[in-house]
Amino acid sequence: MTRNVFIKGTGSYAPEKVLHNDYFERVGSNDKWIYNTLGIKERRIVEDETTSDLATKAGLKAIENAGLSVKDIQMIVVATTTPDRQAPSCACFVQDKLEAYQAVAFDVAAVCSGALFTISVAHEFIKTGRYDNVLVIGADTFSTITDWDRRDSVFFGDGAGAMVLSHTTEDKGFIDFDLHSDGRGKEHFTIPGGGSENPASKHSVKQKQHYFQMNGKEVFDTATKVVPESIASILQENDLTIDDISFMIPHQPSIGILKSIAKTVGLPFEKVTTNMDKYANTSGATIPLVFDETHHAGKFTKGDYLLFAAVGAGWTWGTALYKW
Ligand SMILES: CC(C)(COP(=O)(O)OP(=O)(O)OC[C@H]1O[C@@H](n2cnc3c(N)ncnc32)[C@H](O)[C@@H]1OP(=O)(O)O)[C@@H](O)C(=O)NCCC(=O)NCCS
Repeated sequence: MTRNVFIKGTGSYAPEKVLHNDYFERVGSNDKWIYNTLGIKERRIVEDETTSDLATKAGLKAIENAGLSVKDIQMIVVATTTPDRQAPSCACFVQDKLEAYQAVAFDVAAVCSGALFTISVAHEFIKTGRYDNVLVIGADTFSTITDWDRRDSVFFGDGAGAMVLSHTTEDKGFIDFDLHSDGRGKEHFTIPGGGSENPASKHSVKQKQHYFQMNGKEVFDTATKVVPESIASILQENDLTIDDISFMIPHQPSIGILKSIAKTVGLPFEKVTTNMDKYANTSGATIPLVFDETHHAGKFTKGDYLLFAAVGAGWTWGTALYKW
């Protein structure tokens, strides 16, 4: 019997503190540039919460929305670049906070592609029959790795999104994934300090190497090239065209990148789901966060083809096709 993997429930959570664009006048930026270029009006910033706090709140909502209890979850996978600690994994913090001790828990590191890669991992465990219900969470607090004295502090916000994936014999769920990585791009978005290559030291902290470093032009040029290629490939593999797609649920890097991708693949921009005006780029959280909001707004109709798309540091990128 067909065992399709589908999204049984979703949830999201963002911290309460709102940081408006005006704040960035102190580093020579301004609301007009940020909104017109990046599509961001404001972002949420943690005050006394950690990444696993956000992840746990989003995860609990997804479990409730799926009509399940914590005890039904057999695996928890968290996509994050900003775990509470280097060790253990953020997923183990979440497991403990949920008291989901029956579940195996681990993180996936793929930065802004993290949620998509995490969903693909969960998909394989369910498809093969190993597990029935998996909680996937994307959660990040980039405010903790941002140098607030730099102009590129405008890009990121904090948040979490979650999905419970389960199985069904109905004709719905994930159809295909197209995933890629290219480590030759590793210098273009990186956190150079604090790892085994450059352990945390007075020097690394003084040099601010524990903050992210981004080559904006390379991010733009790579994202607008590789994502359309992946979209073309997954559509062709599955005998679909861009006109069959009801909604694209992309990672939220900047409105400029998303407009360029939509134009290249011929997708009307009203089919591209965005929420970066409210949250900015929440890295691993963007896809499950925007998906949760779109789902709860009742936008999806039975039979809709949905296209997930992500690109992030590494490089990492990919797409997934889903039938609602
Ligand atoms: C960041 C980005 C806008 C910079 O544009 P660019 O053309 O590559 O580089 P430049 O530094 O020449 O910037 C272009 C203009 O924007 C201005 N600018 C750049 N960052 C700015 C900021 N934070 N606030 C205000 N103005 C800014 C520059 O001053 C420059 O202005 P000018 O044309 O009047 O000289 C662009 O590279 C981009 O969108 N990259 C994608 C980054 C991204 O999405 N990251 C998140 C995912 S990892």
